[in-house]
Amino acid sequence: MVTAKNLKLTVLFTFSVVLLLWIASMFASPSIRLSASEMPDPAAKVDSYLDDRYVGSETCKACHEDQFNAVAKTTHGKLGDLPGWKGKVVGCESCHGPGKEHVEGGGDKTKIKVFAGMDSKAVSESCLACHSGKEAHNNFRRGDHWRNNIGCTDCHSAHGPSYGPQRPGSMTLIGEAAEQRPSLANRAMLKNSEPQLCIGCHSETKAQFSKPFHHKVLEGTMTCSDCHNPHGGFESKQARLALGSDQACVRCHTQMQGPFVFEHAALKIEGCATCHSPHGSNNPKLLKRSSVRQLCLECHTNIENVELDPNIPTGPHTQTSIRTQNCTVCHSQIHGSNSNKDFFR
Ligand code: HEC
Ligand code: HEC
Ligand code: HEC
Ligand code: HEC
Ligand code: HEC
Ligand code: HEC
Ligand code: HEC
Ligand code: HEC
Ligand code: HEC
Ligand code: HEC
Repeated sequence: MVTAKNLKLTVLFTFSVVLLLWIASMFASPSIRLSASEMPDPAAKVDSYLDDRYVGSETCKACHEDQFNAVAKTTHGKLGDLPGWKGKVVGCESCHGPGKEHVEGGGDKTKIKVFAGMDSKAVSESCLACHSGKEAHNNFRRGDHWRNNIGCTDCHSAHGPSYGPQRPGSMTLIGEAAEQRPSLANRAMLKNSEPQLCIGCHSETKAQFSKPFHHKVLEGTMTCSDCHNPHGGFESKQARLALGSDQACVRCHTQMQGPFVFEHAALKIEGCATCHSPHGSNNPKLLKRSSVRQLCLECHTNIENVELDPNIPTGPHTQTSIRTQNCTVCHSQIHGSNSNKDFFR
């Protein structure tokens, strides 16, 4: 007999089972975000085990169990399960090269690719052998990190991160929230969760993000890579900016996006950072100058000579009047307007 209570229990039970199965499936299936469109089949370029110089990761395990166990947990360790990678060289030898001679030599170090002490560009090239299919990584050779000899393994741990739940040493400025966000910790085999990873080398930015007005990066509500492409690209400062428009900024600040009927050339030509310090500033609204007026007058030098319409009871555009010093009181749509060429409402 199905009573209301029974039915409720059955529904609850079924729901829990489905939920459990779903959770289980998340752990069971390798979490690989490989899509054909993103990575034009790198497997095609990779050697296959038919080449008898390769022995397979299981053979390496016999002598390098720690490395084997670490790699097994990573995306790389699970590649062999994907249909497109069947029979292809994956795991240890996809990076370290064929291992037969090394094994036959009883672990002869000269017969295997050893990365320790290798030039970081050369290390990166080993990764790019597979990873250059994706535009973001292909452009790595155009970025400042490449130019300055910062390689993939300065940010990524090749065998997967060794830490458990993220707990980096210096958490002083970073709230508990940052630690708990799985998106920040343990992501993409990073050696450290993101703000610390970058600040580890770019220590000067920590001070900028500590100024009175700042984007909340240290607090963990956004990351450096929200605005920067860590892998480099065409833009200066490795910003995630498309040419001419400040894509990174307007992704969040949509109201500044435009296109406007009347664009402020300052934005279109030079971008947001002309007027704002993107990391942090002592001035409200992250402005580069302590007063709005100062900022405007750097470009609009002869403003005092611009007579205001005599019908507008504001007096001349002279800077002796406090009223006309507050530029954005009148020119309030300073990022662009659809109704007024002078950026009033
Ligand atoms: C994604 C590429 C990659 C894969 C896959 C990989 N390695 Fe490595 N391995 C490296 C790099 C790079 C280093 C140099 C250390 C570093 O920079 O972290 C290294 C270092 C090592 C070392 C030196 C000791 C150490 O732990 O640093 C050993 C031994 C080693 N790997 C064995 C293996 C074995 C065994 C496997 C397979 C189970 C494997 N590696 C898979 C890239 C890889
Ligand atoms: C029979 C045991 C054995 C097997 C199997 C074996 N290795 Fe080794 N391997 C060694 C020994 C021993 C060393 C250390 C040599 C030394 O430190 O002088 C070594 C060193 C290495 C190093 C250099 C570590 C360093 O000091 O930087 C790498 C990389 C490496 N092995 C990778 C592999 C890979 C990949 C495989 C599988 C293809 C493999 N090994 C299989 C025994 C083995
Ligand atoms: C044999 C080809 C191959 C080589 C060599 C290789 N990778 Fe990968 N790697 C892949 C594939 C395929 C994926 C999964 C697709 C993806 O996420 O883009 C992947 C995924 C990754 C990921 C994302 C992991 C995640 O869990 O999100 C990172 C980071 C990465 N690789 C870094 C490296 C680094 C660093 C090296 C060099 C030390 C390297 N790879 C060498 C094929 C390779
Ligand atoms: C300056 C640090 C840094 C360097 C150097 C670096 N990465 Fe990354 N990488 C990151 C960060 C941060 C993320 C996660 C944020 C993101 O997805 O942009 C990431 C994400 C990834 C991912 C997963 C997301 C994706 O884009 O598919 C892969 C794969 C990857 N990196 C591969 C590489 C390879 C290959 C190299 C070397 C050619 C490299 N990385 C060099 C910092 C770095
Ligand atoms: C291992 C050290 C190291 C790490 C980690 C690192 N960087 Fe860098 N980065 C450098 C070096 C060195 C340069 C080139 C010199 C410079 O301009 O400071 C550079 C350059 C840059 C530039 C361009 C600066 C310019 O003046 O054009 C940006 C932007 C940048 N890094 C962002 C990041 C971000 C975001 C991260 C974290 C995902 C990161 N870096 C992680 C060392 C590092
Ligand atoms: C809100 C977006 C944003 C965030 C978040 C951000 N940056 Fe930047 N960063 C920029 C822009 C835009 C520039 C270029 C500034 C310019 O051209 O004057 C820049 C410039 C830089 C430079 C070049 C040196 C300089 O001061 O001009 C470095 C290095 C850098 N950022 C590192 C970082 C690091 C490390 C983080 C995280 C701790 C980070 N950025 C977070 C937007 C951002
Ligand atoms: C990931 C989303 C995100 C990105 C990307 C981003 N911002 Fe922001 N921005 C915010 C948030 C959220 C706030 C306000 C809350 C706070 O204090 O952090 C903010 C605050 C600001 C402020 C101050 C507003 C005020 O009322 O005080 C300015 C100016 C600003 N951002 C400009 C920029 C510029 C310029 C860029 C590109 C270099 C940028 N933002 C990129 C999310 C973002
Ligand atoms: C010509 C200088 C200039 C440029 C370029 C500029 N801004 Fe502003 N922005 C200002 C001024 C001035 C204010 C303060 C307005 C006020 O005090 O009323 C401001 C305020 C803001 C605010 C705070 C919210 C608000 O409406 O007051 C955000 C967010 C912002 N700007 C984002 C951006 C973004 C994103 C870009 C690039 C697309 C950008 N700004 C380019 C001058 C500029
Ligand atoms: C980086 C330089 C720069 C800064 C800073 C700047 N502007 Fe502009 N502004 C321009 C340029 C260039 C034009 C286009 C001039 C033209 O078309 O003749 C313009 C146009 C204008 C116009 C419309 C002029 C017209 O022809 O109708 C107004 C109003 C204006 N700006 C106000 C401001 C105010 C207010 C500020 C301060 C918040 C400011 N600007 C900051 C460069 C700048
Ligand atoms: C009391 C309101 C008011 C204030 C405050 C004000 N303006 Fe204006 N501004 C105007 C008006 C009205 C016009 C239109 C004049 C015309 O077209 O006859 C104008 C026009 C402009 C123009 C376009 C000039 C041209 O050649 O067409 C610029 C640039 C400008 N203002 C910049 C500024 C700057 C910079 C400040 C702050 C120092 C400022 N304004 C403060 C009302 C104001």
